[in-house]
Amino acid sequence: MKCYQVLYLKTCIFDNNFNNVLFLTTMEFILDKTKEINPFKEYDKVTWRSPSNIALIKYWGKKENQIPANPSLSFTLSESYTETCIVYQEKKEADKLSVQFMFEGEENLQFKQKIELFLNKITKYFPFLPKLHLAISSHNSFPHSAGIASSASSMSALALCLCSIEKKHFGTLISENEFFTKASYIARLGSGSASRSVFPYVASWGEIIENPISTDEYASVLPFEMHNNFKNFKDAVLIISKQVKKVSSTAGHGLMEGHPFAGQRFVLAKHNLKKLLLVLKSGNEDGFIEIVENEALTLHALMMSSNPGYILMHPNTVKAIEKIRDFRNKTGIKLCFTLDAGPNVHLLYSDNDCAEVEKFITDDLLQYCEDRFWIADRLGIGPVKIS
Ligand code: PMV
Repeated sequence: MKCYQVLYLKTCIFDNNFNNVLFLTTMEFILDKTKEINPFKEYDKVTWRSPSNIALIKYWGKKENQIPANPSLSFTLSESYTETCIVYQEKKEADKLSVQFMFEGEENLQFKQKIELFLNKITKYFPFLPKLHLAISSHNSFPHSAGIASSASSMSALALCLCSIEKKHFGTLISENEFFTKASYIARLGSGSASRSVFPYVASWGEIIENPISTDEYASVLPFEMHNNFKNFKDAVLIISKQVKKVSSTAGHGLMEGHPFAGQRFVLAKHNLKKLLLVLKSGNEDGFIEIVENEALTLHALMMSSNPGYILMHPNTVKAIEKIRDFRNKTGIKLCFTLDAGPNVHLLYSDNDCAEVEKFITDDLLQYCEDRFWIADRLGIGPVKIS
């Protein structure tokens, strides 16, 4: 008999459409004396495909242990994902981690070190890890050199694989809610925004009074059904530059400490999130555009006003934004842009306007994209376990 510590923080159960919270309780660090119900075999395998997400309300600034300085909300994407496979087997000595890591078919030492660091950090939540040899292989659906951050999709895919191993061999994480809550909690420890990727369509992360199940520890779905106006939204990711950005997100979060506008920003983010929740419920597209574009420009304004200040937008980012706003004014089509911590532009629009908007992309926006490259993405159903 072995002793395993299993973490469940809050439990909530939704109806089938993830619409209503039916039950809510809080449980903290239950020490579960669980024995392996399904012993490790010679080798076993688990694979998850997990999507990236695009934040509408930006997480920018954090406290210790990946606790966000403000709540955030994102659309879960569909076509931009990471697929991670772990082949695992029991090894003789159960004293330290044993990891092999392949990225896009090749050994990658830099990523391996990052993953080892992460796995060491989360061994307390998966005490069986040191007794296994893990051969992890991972690939992205989008080109490695497209200037797209993959931490949200990769960290969530890895967290989901580890939760599946726990579930299979220890019989825990049985309910969907427990499973995805733990996956979100673990993903958050790898990359904050990854916590939101484990949920379908739209997820928020960080405590807000409008959502009783929200917490800084993991993300959750909305406590209401999103309006039809947004359900078929598409995201055209315009790759303005494929270069690796000059200042990483980690450094950017760090520069929010002592930032002269930090206090105001955290208040604004909460305010914008509150307004966005009303908009997502009511279907108010003008309200959506106003909030989403304000968040994108505020994020970059914070970077510029950091000490030292820096600019991640490219001249073509600004040109594309101007074109998008002109197109909206001219046609009345309710599309808008958002930005990640980089130069690329995410163009959000309804599938109903697909023909006009995609013609606009080809005729007017691709001139600003490196090698005319863009990714046609859309809201997605969240991660998928590959059997
Ligand atoms: O999760 P991180 O540490 O890569 O930070 C993500 C920061 C933004 O993408 C700019 C905003 C967000 O909420 O995703």
